[in-house]
Amino acid sequence: MRPDTFQQTSSGHISIGGVPVSTLAEKFGTPLYVLDYDTMVHRMQEYRNALAQLQPAGWACYAGKAFLCRAMVELVAQEGLGLDVVSGGELYTALQAGFDPKNILFHGNVKTAAELRFGLEAGVGQFVVDSLDELDRLNRIADEMGRTAPVLLRLTPGIDAHTHDFIRTGQFDSKFGFGIGDGIADEAVRRALAAERIQLNGFHAHIGSQILEGDPFVANAEALMAFSQRWHQMAGFWPRILDIGGGLGVRYTGGEEPPQLAHILRRIQGLLTEATPPGAAVPKILMEPGRSIVAEAGVTLYTVEAVKTVVGGKVYVAVDGGMGDNIRPALYQAQYAASLDGKPESTPPSAVTVAGRYCESGDILLSGVPLADPQVGDRLIVWATGAYNYSMASTYNRVPRPAVVVVRDGEVSRWVERERWEDVTRLDLPLNARKSVNA
Ligand code: LLP
Repeated sequence: MRPDTFQQTSSGHISIGGVPVSTLAEKFGTPLYVLDYDTMVHRMQEYRNALAQLQPAGWACYAGKAFLCRAMVELVAQEGLGLDVVSGGELYTALQAGFDPKNILFHGNVKTAAELRFGLEAGVGQFVVDSLDELDRLNRIADEMGRTAPVLLRLTPGIDAHTHDFIRTGQFDSKFGFGIGDGIADEAVRRALAAERIQLNGFHAHIGSQILEGDPFVANAEALMAFSQRWHQMAGFWPRILDIGGGLGVRYTGGEEPPQLAHILRRIQGLLTEATPPGAAVPKILMEPGRSIVAEAGVTLYTVEAVKTVVGGKVYVAVDGGMGDNIRPALYQAQYAASLDGKPESTPPSAVTVAGRYCESGDILLSGVPLADPQVGDRLIVWATGAYNYSMASTYNRVPRPAVVVVRDGEVSRWVERERWEDVTRLDLPLNARKSVNA
């Protein structure tokens, strides 16, 4: 739940990466996203090393949707991971940062013609194709450009029942991928193999996010292998790559227990070896962790701006951020843990509601969270906000988005500047900025 470098003094003062959060708040203002360098690197190394144990060695591709900016791309490259992007914007960010396009997987259930062209032009490693329409479009555009598109087909393995509530995207009625159960996946393979400008390299399936059990990951790999075996029998096609999608769940409140990656991969290795037909090469396993790389590395710092007790005795602690920088409580009823800097655990806490600053009753960051004596001016730290917070942030109410800083060994690097009011109005045009559309 907390970054690996978290420290707290006996007076309750908190530091991350050797930097007191009070210093961060003073120097960079609040709200502020803070990421711990060591935690991110440790998590990347865990995936990299665990996957490298597989025969043949597997590969982790960081899912940029969890958190992406130029410096993050550079860190991913430094640590030897690939990158999963889902839009022209993410691809552009990666290329701007000098990321090797061969190490990019281009995902997304909608890639426009312009995005496909951009990906082909750049030479991305694999397009993960999600629909027959996309497959046809990619083949056509690649043909126009005189290129061949390397492809993984995104399959929907139908893993939903008898497992875990969090598994959503693997269901047959998901908007993602080709259902294995309804024949559409077979049609996709047939078309991909027949398409002149498509080079089919393998299959992908992502069954959901924040999964706290090992079995669904293994079941997913099993489904991909069973599908591959069928195609090997039917047409002699055998994948070079099997991509089993996103990474493990994380601790948000401390009650969660993520599964062991090494254990999952050992089980998958067993299946792989067993399922590969004689004479065929064991496919390379890819994984696309996002949340588990950055979630626990990140915290958000806020300043308490008001404390209110309302009818019935409920206490609201209002902070200077909220749903603009963390939409997850409003969107998913996501739960977090929080601490007040300099308020030692020994102070008897009372359960309060932490409210955001946005003009919505639903802008509640935390409910019933125990905080010790919250006062105006206190710094509130919300834990495990590194994933899907900055990347899903908005400027609702025209509130500029916070800066992102990274702490390491007592030093701070600025990764993303704080937005200013000028940035919020930058793209606005005056009332009469008319342009003829008939030309
Ligand atoms: N690969 C694919 C194809 C995905 O769709 C995702 C996440 C990942 C990898 C990364 O999964 P992870 O390792 O992060 O679990 N906004 C939501 C999460 C959406 C996840 C979408 N796909 C949230 O804040 O919980």
